[in-house]
Amino acid sequence: MKTKRRDFLKVTGMAGLGMAGGSILKGCATEQGTDKKPGLDQINKQLESSHVQRFNMSGFAAPKLEVVRVGIIGLGNRGPGHMNNLSRIEGVEIKALCDIRPEKAEAAKKRLEGTIHNPTIYTGSEDAWKKLCEQKDIDLVIITTPWYMHAKMAVYAMEQDKHAASEVAIAATIEEGWQLVETAERTRKHCMMMANYAYNGFQLRTLNMARQGFFGDIIHGEGGYIANKIKNNFSKDMYWDMWWLKQYANRKGNIYPIHGFEWICLLMDINRGDKFDFLVSVETKDFKMGQIAKELATTDDFYKPFADKGFRGNLNNSIIKTSQGRTIIAQHDATTVRPPTLKEEIIGTLRSALEYPRPARISDEDGRWISPEEYKLLEEKFTPNILLKTAEMGKESGSEFGGDILMSWRMIDCLHNGLPLDMDVYDGVSWSSVLPLSEWSVNNRSYPIDIPDFTKGAWKTNKRNMDITIAQGGNTKLIKKV
Ligand SMILES: NC(=O)c1ccc[n+]([C@@H]2O[C@H](COP(=O)([O-])OP(=O)(O)OC[C@H]3O[C@@H](n4cnc5c(N)ncnc54)[C@H](O)[C@@H]3O)[C@@H](O)[C@H]2O)c1
Repeated sequence: MKTKRRDFLKVTGMAGLGMAGGSILKGCATEQGTDKKPGLDQINKQLESSHVQRFNMSGFAAPKLEVVRVGIIGLGNRGPGHMNNLSRIEGVEIKALCDIRPEKAEAAKKRLEGTIHNPTIYTGSEDAWKKLCEQKDIDLVIITTPWYMHAKMAVYAMEQDKHAASEVAIAATIEEGWQLVETAERTRKHCMMMANYAYNGFQLRTLNMARQGFFGDIIHGEGGYIANKIKNNFSKDMYWDMWWLKQYANRKGNIYPIHGFEWICLLMDINRGDKFDFLVSVETKDFKMGQIAKELATTDDFYKPFADKGFRGNLNNSIIKTSQGRTIIAQHDATTVRPPTLKEEIIGTLRSALEYPRPARISDEDGRWISPEEYKLLEEKFTPNILLKTAEMGKESGSEFGGDILMSWRMIDCLHNGLPLDMDVYDGVSWSSVLPLSEWSVNNRSYPIDIPDFTKGAWKTNKRNMDITIAQGGNTKLIKKV
């Protein structure tokens, strides 16, 4: 199967096109220009038809693990937060840490002093992370490096008999998406993208409402990641090796779609009853970043490589049509003056819900926002067991139970109890496919592009994964704060 795919890529001239300078998709777009009969659809279809689902990972439960032994790759801004959260969950041992920068790995290890955790450090080379994956006494590899590295690290971790959980996004190209699916199905290892915004209070309560039919059929959802990151992206020390600025300078499309629609996908049962069908993506030109890069380069040579780049437009809007006839709008804007927001709106046949601008609102069946008092009553009525249980645990352990730690707790609790994880490999790769596909659409005058069915038809019968009632498990404790 693999040979067939490589041959096809060779024939189309796509073989060997990696991330830098263009994914398979970008390479195709450059060659095709604005051709109305794009070849990319055929490439995607070929990749899809060459994949045979060996085993359906939806609903997959791995054998119970009494203790989950963890290795973490990437200890910049995000990694240490995951490490702290995991170190506070009973039945977790942090066994290894890796960062290409020794000081980051050492600093993270130092934060664990005085705890039960004494991780081995891997550092100093681009491939040191492989040694972490190879370490025998690890069950779960957490990946918090820049997103274009996630797929290769998750694939390698699974090949070494480890479960893999990665930050968003988990794949940067369609080919990587298929590699993740193929590896997970073959090795029967969990491969989860850690979509943490789905674990916030509004999201979990409205998910509960949706599952009880409160909104009727969901017709449409809108979400976005809107947060001005200009200062961060041009800062010399915010991110490793200016990796975000390089992405803005070299790509088009929605390069950070997940947070805006992860909740919407759960409400719409994407990959279990519905699936993404196709998307179109429209982008403004860049009014700001290129100009800033040019100005900085006049006084600082460091910015010269960015001075002549065609930066990603300031706003990207991608519209997804689902196979059951729903629509999702995903917006990404990391450069305008707007106050930060995720938007987060869903519209059902009976009622709608809107999270931003806060306070969050819910409409009644007559098209009016309900009063704050009625909203409060609904919140109480629809608070799912997962929130009740973890709030109680938070109190007992002396700390608040926010979305991030709730996600880690739930992942570990499922591994302890041999339960399916809330999000499977198909969720991670289909949601992530919006990155390369939106880029291709933007590069092709917003031409529509099919979104591959990574479940190979199983979406029609797959059951829901995310058990917010905690019917099973829920017995993993938090370590008391001292
Ligand atoms: N879910 C969320 O809310 C959220 C928030 C922020 C970031 N993120 C995601 O988290 C990931 C990391 O973002 P960040 O802000 O921490 O970036 P960062 O640049 O601060 O951290 C990345 C780390 O990876 C290390 N690294 C780079 N190459 C490596 C290699 N070959 N081997 C080992 N380590 C290597 C770097 O030294 C750095 O410390 C990104 O994918 C981002 O999209 C998610």
